[in-house]
Amino acid sequence: MSPQIAFPQGFLWGAATSSYQIEGAWNEDGKGESIWDRFSHTPGKISDGSTGDIACDHYHRWEADLDLMQSLGLQAYRFSITWPRVLPEGRGQVNQAGLDFYDRLVDGLLARNITPFVTLYHWDLPQALEDAGGWPARATAEAFVDYADAVSARLGDRVKHWITHNEPWVAAFLGYGMGVHAPGLRDFQKAMAASHHLLLSHGWAVPVIRANSQDARVGITLDLTDVVPASPSPQDYHAAREMDGFLNRWFLDPIFGRGYPADVIAWFGRVHGARVDFVQEGDMDAIAAPTDFLGVNYYTRHVARAPGDDNLPPTITTEDSEFTEMGWEVAPRSLFRLLNRLHFDYQTPAIYITENGAAFPDEVSEDGRVHDDRRLAYLDAHFRAAHEAIQCGVPLRGYFVWSLMDNFEWSFGYTKRFGIVYIDFETQQRIVKDSGLWYRDVIARNGLDGEPDALPTH
Ligand code: FCB
Repeated sequence: MSPQIAFPQGFLWGAATSSYQIEGAWNEDGKGESIWDRFSHTPGKISDGSTGDIACDHYHRWEADLDLMQSLGLQAYRFSITWPRVLPEGRGQVNQAGLDFYDRLVDGLLARNITPFVTLYHWDLPQALEDAGGWPARATAEAFVDYADAVSARLGDRVKHWITHNEPWVAAFLGYGMGVHAPGLRDFQKAMAASHHLLLSHGWAVPVIRANSQDARVGITLDLTDVVPASPSPQDYHAAREMDGFLNRWFLDPIFGRGYPADVIAWFGRVHGARVDFVQEGDMDAIAAPTDFLGVNYYTRHVARAPGDDNLPPTITTEDSEFTEMGWEVAPRSLFRLLNRLHFDYQTPAIYITENGAAFPDEVSEDGRVHDDRRLAYLDAHFRAAHEAIQCGVPLRGYFVWSLMDNFEWSFGYTKRFGIVYIDFETQQRIVKDSGLWYRDVIARNGLDGEPDALPTH
């Protein structure tokens, strides 16, 4: 029977991971050190004191993991490449053994009829490049192009979907501005320069990837959110607009050819004393290189409020809402609003949701299964929101659940589980959670049941 909520034919269902979060093998086969190796090895940086040295041991277990993906019926798999596996020093001599791993992985995916979506940069910068200045230095953008060239030259005959960067906002502002991600700096001037060089490296890499990979589809993945004012007051509207500028428009505007938004430049100056002194002639054209799709990572919305005398934070939480283990509000309606906004404000080409999912404190039950009802409900609600957006004309082409498996959640270590597959990090045993079994059915039916208009109001 066809499902009540049916997705378009050819809609691509997948799951996502990233290299540092799952691979392990941090110093094998000639791999160089990354900024995440350095950061996680620094005491006090990761909440549970853990590292990604072993993680899910995917580097050694990849074949069994591919079989698992196939058993779930995944049609696509988004993974990232470890730059210092390919170029241990960040540039120069290519380490073929590092590329061999991804070569085998791609062949294994294709043999199982799973379309690979490759992310070139999911935050594991070679430490050697960080030592030379990292993303605040323009030379890092140049090095990225060589790296993109090496990878796409090797895999471009088989990989046809390329994502240059994952969440440059996080890489720049959490890494260089707030210090909670590698490399752990707290300098907004550097963070702003980093954001520019990340975007620039994206723009420069697009034609290089196209040259190496015939008929490739190339895009970038941004972490985007829906910012709503806490009240209808003009002050809260203004606060929401500022936050939207920092979180969304700072990246969307230049990618879609509008340059950096003037109000956000002014805001950086006013709030952080940071200047735009890193843009050179031709940069904005390079950043606006036409792409084939936009990758959207969506987890939660933000409710913005104007600063008052009460010293409350700039976002508030709504009392009747549900929150995940990350403290993120469950807000599927905002995914619908965000997708429409992207379509109408930016006329985005195709869109893929490249990450969406939730962390909950999962446990293995006596029956040996993981009954993660809340994750299942989260995904169900967000799939509905996506479907509703498609009905409004949004060119949404596919959906990657974050994550295929529990993994190293950055500064939270192994304390946050996002997988649809449970990992016992002691034994490396994998258990498909209830949400994974349910997702397998959604994929098989290309849809789900239920009232199409049953979306919550936020
Ligand atoms: C995103 C990251 C991803 C994962 C999820 C929870 O910001 O891209 O690696 O950590 O959040």
